[in-house]
Amino acid sequence: MRLHILWEDLAEVRSLSVRLDAQGIGIGKKLVTTCIKEAKTLGIKRIFALTYHPEFFGKIGFSVIDKSKLPQKIWGECLRCPKFPECDESAVIMNLS
Ligand SMILES: CC(C)(COP(=O)(O)OP(=O)(O)OC[C@H]1O[C@@H](n2cnc3c(N)ncnc32)[C@H](O)[C@@H]1OP(=O)(O)O)[C@@H](O)C(=O)NCCC(=O)NCCS
Repeated sequence: MRLHILWEDLAEVRSLSVRLDAQGIGIGKKLVTTCIKEAKTLGIKRIFALTYHPEFFGKIGFSVIDKSKLPQKIWGECLRCPKFPECDESAVIMNLS
């Protein structure tokens, strides 16, 4: 997992994955919380993720938003995805400011 900084005010939580036998004990939440802290330290105003588990992110304080509300530029790296342009992940976002 990593915090990918797109612009000075926007970052993405990427590649979040907790090993199957370690799920459900708070590791995912701790990883995302660490990303949020790092983003705040850097003065980033919004942090988002594309996910199949919006409820998990909701518990941490993210809100689901329409993917079309995210800047078009974030889709640059999705061009190689076999699902493009029919992305079936949900977009979630949190305001940090
Ligand atoms: C989704 C994932 C990251 C969650 O990590 P985790 O370590 O199991 O989650 P945590 O134990 O930190 O859970 C934190 C809270 O979210 C809840 N939660 C976890 N997964 C959830 C899910 N899929 N749906 C709804 N709630 C979920 C937990 O019940 C817990 O709630 P609580 O605070 O009320 O007790 C993990 O299941 C995973 O790696 N899945 C496979 C890969 C994947 O889909 N990654 C997401 C890519 S964005």
